[in-house]
Amino acid sequence: MDAIAELFSRKTQEAPPVPLILAPMAGVTDAPFRSLALRYGARLAFSEMVASQAMVRHTPQSLKIVSTLEPESIFAVQIAGSDPAVMAEAARMNEGLGARVIDINMGCPVKKICNNGAGAALLRNESLAGAIVAQVSRAVQVPVTVKIRLGWDHDHKNGLTIARIAEQNGARLVTVHGRTRADMYHGKADWAAIATIKKALSIPVIGNGDVVDPESAREMLEVTGVDGIMIGRGALGRPWIFTQIAHFLANGTTPSPPDLKTRLDLVANHFQAMIQHLGPVVGNRLARKHLAWHTRGLVGGGRFRNAVNHSPDPQTTAGMIETFFREQPDF
Ligand SMILES: Cc1cc2nc3c(=O)[nH]c(=O)nc-3n(C[C@H](O)[C@H](O)[C@H](O)COP(=O)(O)O)c2cc1C
Repeated sequence: MDAIAELFSRKTQEAPPVPLILAPMAGVTDAPFRSLALRYGARLAFSEMVASQAMVRHTPQSLKIVSTLEPESIFAVQIAGSDPAVMAEAARMNEGLGARVIDINMGCPVKKICNNGAGAALLRNESLAGAIVAQVSRAVQVPVTVKIRLGWDHDHKNGLTIARIAEQNGARLVTVHGRTRADMYHGKADWAAIATIKKALSIPVIGNGDVVDPESAREMLEVTGVDGIMIGRGALGRPWIFTQIAHFLANGTTPSPPDLKTRLDLVANHFQAMIQHLGPVVGNRLARKHLAWHTRGLVGGGRFRNAVNHSPDPQTTAGMIETFFREQPDF
């Protein structure tokens, strides 16, 4: 079974009606965080975007981005770039490394990426967007998917055209983030626009933008009729959101979040996984933002985050995590 067929095979009664997917997030969805989301009910977790130019040069950082800690049932890598031949080569490399889905980034709003004609800039160049999807699709056996925004800005909303172009050139699935590039992450995602694209395409469409809890997940499904839901920021520090949404969509009730003892184990294990994956120096530094998300809303969180930001080594940080959770009133 190929990865897209597998994604939509609903295995158990408890499974949600549509797959729940962790969004690609640069600097966030590394192998340890993907593992966490998958353990907590995400059906699929995209790698953070890897620059195709860096990938074909085999830079250590790009190889790290596309690595896994454990076999992910559907390992999906997102590539970014603007040169069809380089994108195709990067896709081939990732297929060789075990990727079962290659996703093409057509949504990144960051200047550095767009100035190179990549990410959301591809929304402004429909012929190049089509050429990239076609060339990447020809280069690999595994399914190719595309993640788009609604357009460059509100005067240039060609998301539907781009989605059709993706489909015509071989994409097997399209994810739509319901914002334009100009919106960045402001305002509310336009789910009605996602619905329009969903209706127009024959391939599966995944909806993305502002799903943060079970209720918003159900609402997105009702408004858009999408074939899957992708969640980004809502999963930061709350990987169990997938289990909660899955349960709610399958039988109408929402399980409580894990208790503080379970959360201590979760955070401690996540931290150790980051240290193992990234090494003590980089791991200790890059874990800070996850630790900030993991402790949001808890008593003394601000002080903890400040202390962790100055922690010199993993042993000290691990001790801080342990003490912080044990000192919570409800521990
Ligand atoms: C820190 C961060 C990094 C992101 N990096 C990527 C990326 O590498 N590739 C991509 O397609 N989208 C990226 N996105 C966009 C998300 O995948 C998603 O489309 C967006 O956050 C909206 O979904 P949400 O409301 O569920 O967060 C990023 C978003 C954030 C917040």
